[in-house]
Amino acid sequence: GLASVKSSGAVKALDALGAHAETIIRQIELHTPHSANVEGANVELGLDSQYCVRRAEEIRQEYKSEFVKSEYLLLAILEEGKSLASHILKVMDVNADRLKEEIVKLQNHDEDNIASESEAKFEFNATEALDLILTDSLKLRGTSLLSMTDLTKEQIMGIMQVAALMDHSKKTRESGFSWNYPRSLAMIFEKPSLRTRVTFDLGMQLLGGTTTILGPAEIGLGSRESVPDVARNLERWVDAVMARVFEHKVLVELRDNCSIPVINALSDLEHPCQILADFYAILCKKGKLEGLKLAWVGDGNNVLHSLMLGGAAVGMTVSAAFPVGYEPDPEVIAKAREIAGREDAIVLTNDPKVAAADADIVYTDVWTSMGQEKEMIARVHAFRAFQVNEDLMKLTSPESLFMHCLPAHRGDEVTDGVLDGPQSIVFDQAEARLYAQQAVLALTIGP
Ligand code: CP
Ligand code: NVA
Repeated sequence: GLASVKSSGAVKALDALGAHAETIIRQIELHTPHSANVEGANVELGLDSQYCVRRAEEIRQEYKSEFVKSEYLLLAILEEGKSLASHILKVMDVNADRLKEEIVKLQNHDEDNIASESEAKFEFNATEALDLILTDSLKLRGTSLLSMTDLTKEQIMGIMQVAALMDHSKKTRESGFSWNYPRSLAMIFEKPSLRTRVTFDLGMQLLGGTTTILGPAEIGLGSRESVPDVARNLERWVDAVMARVFEHKVLVELRDNCSIPVINALSDLEHPCQILADFYAILCKKGKLEGLKLAWVGDGNNVLHSLMLGGAAVGMTVSAAFPVGYEPDPEVIAKAREIAGREDAIVLTNDPKVAAADADIVYTDVWTSMGQEKEMIARVHAFRAFQVNEDLMKLTSPESLFMHCLPAHRGDEVTDGVLDGPQSIVFDQAEARLYAQQAVLALTIGP
């Protein structure tokens, strides 16, 4: 059990001592006779295991640790001296003195990490955040947000500051920023939505603005009226347009035919508002974005595209695993690598385990996106091995996060255990949609 948890201190110590976990597992399997099915039997810890658990607790006290760590259990097994496990470890030249040296190294490393984690805490300053809106120092006023490539790293980090201001005002019920005259947003939806619809609508209201929601039946975008003509009408009434569309080129047409900001609320190519919210949710947990490894497991879709482009800008590594035939857009991959200035900012694989190994974040999304419903059966088949489950999460550390843009198809791309588990921050992401989009609205519409 200890040897199978790759991110554990026990496996790290064993590795450092040249005893590889796979070899230990193989040895145990070789020496353990297959027993009858004992399912349902009253299984108890053997005497040697009981000794090890008690001894590990004593070792915890000796090392003045808060937790019984896996490396303490390993040392206890070694000290017990009579079990098969202890025998295998000795044959592999793992002795108690060398293991204790590794335990001290792990202890120091943990303390360094705690120190650097607290240094990396995301700092937010309300006055500076408000200034970003009032002075337009980020140069976002009047600009559109169709792609993560529309934003520099400085602009993304500025949006994070303003998102923190919005978060603070909502939680304290203090007004951080609001318009003195109600600004208005047209919200165009060619596809269904829960999060995007509620958070843009509520976000505008909290800023002192108003919205007009236009569903597919209302406008007939491109059929009842051309996209450019819709844009030329809307700009006469409202201060910004948010649109969720099938084809990304419709957003480009809207933007190119009006003078007000157009915000991509999801297209076949990208979902930038989702990624800004995700970055804010990550910052709240990890205190930083730069240097993190994000593993994507699933379809090479719109959410992955924005993650790769945004991740590249802020200095993350995105390691994406997808089935053959469901690759992300090659142009997006090339662009992300160009933005990052390094090829290995984007790692591509067809093996979810390769992507997930040692990841700080594991992210997945539905196998079938809106508009691809006809492909659903083929996709279910192709993506079967691309589920984020408890076994896959074991390849990461307990501090790693699980993320999903939602809606989730429980039992397909993610198990209930992971989605509802302690590593999951999916509802923090949903909450962060409000703050990130309020920030985008305040900065692009202006004070
Ligand atoms: N994540 C997301 O965009 O959710 P909705 O489709 O519900 O808006
Ligand atoms: N990739 C999904 C995201 C939903 C928020 C879709 O486009 O349907």
